[in-house]
Amino acid sequence: MQPRAEFVRAMFARIARRYDFMNHLMTLGRDRAWRRYVARQAALPQGGLALDVATGTADLALALGRHSPHGRVVGIDFCSEMINMGRIKVAAAEEDSRLRFVIGDALQLPFADGCFDAVTSGFALRNVADVPQAFAEMGRVVKAGGWVVNLEIARPTLPVFRQLFHIYFYRLVPLLGRFIAGQGEAYHYLPHSLTHFLSPEELKAVMERAGLSKVWYRRLMLGTVAVHVGVKG
Ligand SMILES: C[S@@+](CC[C@H](N)C(=O)[O-])C[C@H]1O[C@@H](n2cnc3c(N)ncnc32)[C@H](O)[C@@H]1O
Repeated sequence: MQPRAEFVRAMFARIARRYDFMNHLMTLGRDRAWRRYVARQAALPQGGLALDVATGTADLALALGRHSPHGRVVGIDFCSEMINMGRIKVAAAEEDSRLRFVIGDALQLPFADGCFDAVTSGFALRNVADVPQAFAEMGRVVKAGGWVVNLEIARPTLPVFRQLFHIYFYRLVPLLGRFIAGQGEAYHYLPHSLTHFLSPEELKAVMERAGLSKVWYRRLMLGTVAVHVGVKG
């Protein structure tokens, strides 16, 4: 594994137990609604099969399963500690029998071309070494006519709010991570992973270059989150 990927994997292994709690705390619980929104855009057909890339603790995979009562979902992630937390949650959920986990790399998905009806990813691409390759893989494994939906943090553009967000994200979040999760380094990394990340407009262009069409995005939560949607074929 490349050093950056191993750094990311090991960091998520350390924070796996506190990951969900911190997510809900930092987003004031809004992440649940964003995941439901992603699941709606993925439009998994009755009995269809979805892939959630870099699934982590499986909140997005569960949202997909709940939105599509007869759908099946595969969650893939290279961090077994995150997946194990997901497995515990899924075992306690009604969707249990329809969700499966695979340990693997988002940049080399171990699936055949065109075998999923929809592909999603949440809060993952800031962490991967090669964003175009991640979208190329998502586009490869989705069927023609299937949707690829991505949820990611974004830098807000409203002038005053941008400064408030900066204070919150770059000063308060690392403190919360240090004192509540006991993981100062990981929650210092979190805001910095956004600093050089693509803007929503740039991310849209990457999706288009990966061969996805009708690509659009919507900013949520005062522009601090963006959902990108594109279709294959
Ligand atoms: C911020 S978490 C997001 C988890 C989940 N998708 C969510 O919405 O909460 C990022 C996840 O991406 C995974 N990840 C990062 N790079 C990856 C890669 N190249 N292949 C597979 N998983 C990766 C990490 O292990 C981690 O679980």
